Amino acid sequence: MSYLSLTDVKKNFAGNPVIRGIDLAVEQGEFISFLGPSGCGKTTTLRMIAGFEMPSEGNITLDGIDLTQLPPNQRNLGMVFQSYALFPNLTVAQNIAFGLEVRRTPRPQIRERVQEMLELIQLSDYGHRFPSQLSGGQQQRVALARALAIHPRVLLLDEPLSALDAKIRLELRQEIRTIQQKLKITTIYVTHDQEEALSLSDRIVVMHDGVIEQIGTPFEIYNYPANAFVASFVGQINLLPVEVSDFARKEVKMGKQLVRVGRMGEAKGSSAQLAIRPEELQLGPASQGNTLTGQVAGVAYLGSVLRCKLQMEDTLISMDMFNSKDLAIPQVGQELSVHFSEEACWLLW
Ligand SMILES: Nc1ncnc2c1ncn2[C@@H]1O[C@H](COP(=O)(O)OP(=O)(O)O)[C@@H](O)[C@H]1O
Ligand SMILES: [Mg+2]
Repeated sequence: MSYLSLTDVKKNFAGNPVIRGIDLAVEQGEFISFLGPSGCGKTTTLRMIAGFEMPSEGNITLDGIDLTQLPPNQRNLGMVFQSYALFPNLTVAQNIAFGLEVRRTPRPQIRERVQEMLELIQLSDYGHRFPSQLSGGQQQRVALARALAIHPRVLLLDEPLSALDAKIRLELRQEIRTIQQKLKITTIYVTHDQEEALSLSDRIVVMHDGVIEQIGTPFEIYNYPANAFVASFVGQINLLPVEVSDFARKEVKMGKQLVRVGRMGEAKGSSAQLAIRPEELQLGPASQGNTLTGQVAGVAYLGSVLRCKLQMEDTLISMDMFNSKDLAIPQVGQELSVHFSEEACWLLW
């Protein structure tokens, strides 16, 4: 049996279904991300696990025990929010000690644990400071230490980095993963940022409109998205309208151009979308595999990557090229051929 299980969990707010039935099994020590657009129900699901919201239906178990009716303070979970939510009138050390004080942990033990936590977040000398005397990134590390001090059974993080600037966000992201692996603590991380989810998680739960669209490793989610929503929410993708010309031979037509497809999926009519990631397209015609020809409609230089838009009949296609000093940058209006393997593309219906 899994460590943390959600079984057919639903949530209505004033009769409005917001979570429409979620099933999820999390193993001990796993790092799971809830990834999806704003409003899809990530926070609501996390709050139900934490006990701040009651499911309208379904149940949640942790380590074999049904949590569904338990108040938050009897679940022994640690939570970190987007806003640092530290107590402004308490020092860093007092903030970290808070959960232990509530649990009436003996003083010497509290002192020891606080020091341990300060070392873990690399703020050993900051115990006496007040939150207002810390940067945003430091405050969020204290919030993390406060959540971890009580030895929670699960760590829950709700967009913990979104209030920070890009560089700190990247640093802290790595630090969260390092700490999580060191402590081997089961973690659920809510984010709308696909890069965060891809880089941090053992598995990603992609959510949309109150349901789970797909659960998988970052590699699975990116390379084998279950549907058009996942394909376009996680990473960049071309979804090109095609007509199936010969299903058995895996042949489709984009306008007049023939394409051989790796995975055809389950047929639904004669029209489909050809899915292919921009980085799978390569410059020049192919001796083998698929070749498409079009005109350069736009070029965006992004540093490590050059993103080129090609107009092919009625369709625009994105192609990514890796930067290098001898890269010949395509010119707008120029005719270009690109090639890609059959395995690189698949159909979505
Ligand atoms: N307390 C509440 N009362 C009514 N509607 C709510 C409440 N909390 C969340 N919602 C609605 O539920 C939906 C999901 O919200 P939320 O879980 O916060 O999404 P996310 O975290 O993915 O952005 C949204 O449409 C939101 O407006
Ligand atoms: Mg949210």
